[in-house]
Amino acid sequence: MTVARPAGGPAVMARRAEPRGSVDDFPTPPWAVRALTEWLVGSGVEPGGLCCREPAAGRGHMARALAEAFSDVHQIDIHDYGTGNLDTVADYLDEPFWPFVDWTITNPPFRLAEQFIHHALSTSEAGVAMLVRTQFLEGVGRHGRLFSRHPPTAVLQFAERVPMVRGRLDPQATTATSYCWLVWDRCARGPTRLVWLPPCRKRLEREEDWT
Ligand SMILES: C[S@@+](CC[C@H](N)C(=O)[O-])C[C@H]1O[C@@H](n2cnc3c(N)ncnc32)[C@H](O)[C@@H]1O
Repeated sequence: MTVARPAGGPAVMARRAEPRGSVDDFPTPPWAVRALTEWLVGSGVEPGGLCCREPAAGRGHMARALAEAFSDVHQIDIHDYGTGNLDTVADYLDEPFWPFVDWTITNPPFRLAEQFIHHALSTSEAGVAMLVRTQFLEGVGRHGRLFSRHPPTAVLQFAERVPMVRGRLDPQATTATSYCWLVWDRCARGPTRLVWLPPCRKRLEREEDWT
C-alpha cells in the first residue's frame, strides 16, 4: 500500500489492507528479488541449473528477476493478467500434487501466506523463500502452526523500504510497510539467522524494470 507523504510532513502509515476475496495484486520491484538471489548465491546456493516455481506470479515481475539467476522458472497464478507470462493458470493451493521443484519463491497473497509456505515446503527439494511483511513474524497462532515447527533458516530484513502498489510497478511509490524475505534452505544448519539486507535498491534496480 502506498503512503501519502504530505508536503513537509512525515510518511503516513497506510496498511496494505485488502478486502476478503481480493487476489492481493501487488507486484514486487525486481531489485528486491535480486537482493534475495544475490544473498542466496553468497550463501552457497548455485541457482544456475536449478528449477524454481513462482506460484503467485502475477504479471511476472518477480519471475523475470528470478530467471536472471535460476535456469528455469515455472509461473503459476490464479488470475491471468493477460501479460502472457504464465505457464499455468490455477489456484496454487487447490492442487496437492505439484511436481517437485528445487526452489519455490514468491510474494504470496498476504491472507494466504501461511498456506503458501506450507504448500511450498512440501513441494520443494532445495528451499523456499517468501517475501512477507515483517509483521508476519509475530502472532501466537502462526508461531504454533508454522514457525515453531518449521523455523526459517534465515530472515533477511530489508534495511530500506520496498514500496509496492496495487496492480503495477511505480518507481515513485513510497511505503511505511517493512518487508523481509523468509528463507528455508534445506542445506543450511543451525538456528534461524537474522540478516540485514543493506540498502541495495540503487545498485540493483535497472531502468528497464519500470517499463
Ligand atoms: C502480492 S502479488 C505478487 C505478484 C508477483 N509474485 C510479484 O511479486 O510480482 C500476489 C499474487 O498472488 C496471486 N494469487 C492470489 N491467490 C492465489 C492462489 N490461490 N493461487 C495462485 N495465485 C494466487 C494474485 O493474483 C497475485 O498476482
